[in-house]
Amino acid sequence: MLNINGCTLEARRVDITTLAVDAIVNAANTSLLGGGGVDGAIHRAAGQDLLRECETLDGCATGEAKLTRGYRLPARFVIHAVGPVWRGGAHGEAELLASCYRRSLEVAREAQCTSIAFPAISCGIYHFPAHDAVRIALDTVLDTLPRTPRMERVVFACFDDAMLACYQAELTRRQAPPSKPV
Ligand code: AR6
Repeated sequence: MLNINGCTLEARRVDITTLAVDAIVNAANTSLLGGGGVDGAIHRAAGQDLLRECETLDGCATGEAKLTRGYRLPARFVIHAVGPVWRGGAHGEAELLASCYRRSLEVAREAQCTSIAFPAISCGIYHFPAHDAVRIALDTVLDTLPRTPRMERVVFACFDDAMLACYQAELTRRQAPPSKPV
């Protein structure tokens, strides 16, 4: 766990659809009309009304994010972010993934959210290497937080132990070293 200016960052092994935060982020595709992975799980848990609202949004570009209500989810909102497909790393994947985290936090700020949960965007069906993705996620969230002063809690929802270990290692690495006695 990391505490930065009143905001807690934590990694948990949890199904993101169960989290009662203001907004959960979906790892969507450009159609916003559902799919597999976490996207499928979110649509199943939220119910058909989520798909109906998504149909009005006209899709979403890679690296961008759009807001809907959460319907039957415990979360009030879903922020649908579209991560890049990993194509070797020379196709702007890192920048596009960073943009997902930044834009999701900006959309959450516009909706006055104080808590948000992210899945490991692009790390499943889109095959982004997990260690690089985790570093990008944390760097970008830490960079963006000063511009989202109402945010109190950021959860990184990990679906398996390997992803949780990766987040925990990176969070620990970023903890300020204990101050030395003078
Ligand atoms: N809660 C938290 N994390 C989850 C859950 C869950 N319920 N289910 C899966 N994960 P993926 P992508 C993890 O494949 O790579 C869809 O078809 C999973 O273990 O869901 O961005 C979309 O429509 C992995 O670590 O998303 C797109 O077409 C992470 O979530 C495409 O997949 C992301 O895996 C997006 O692929």
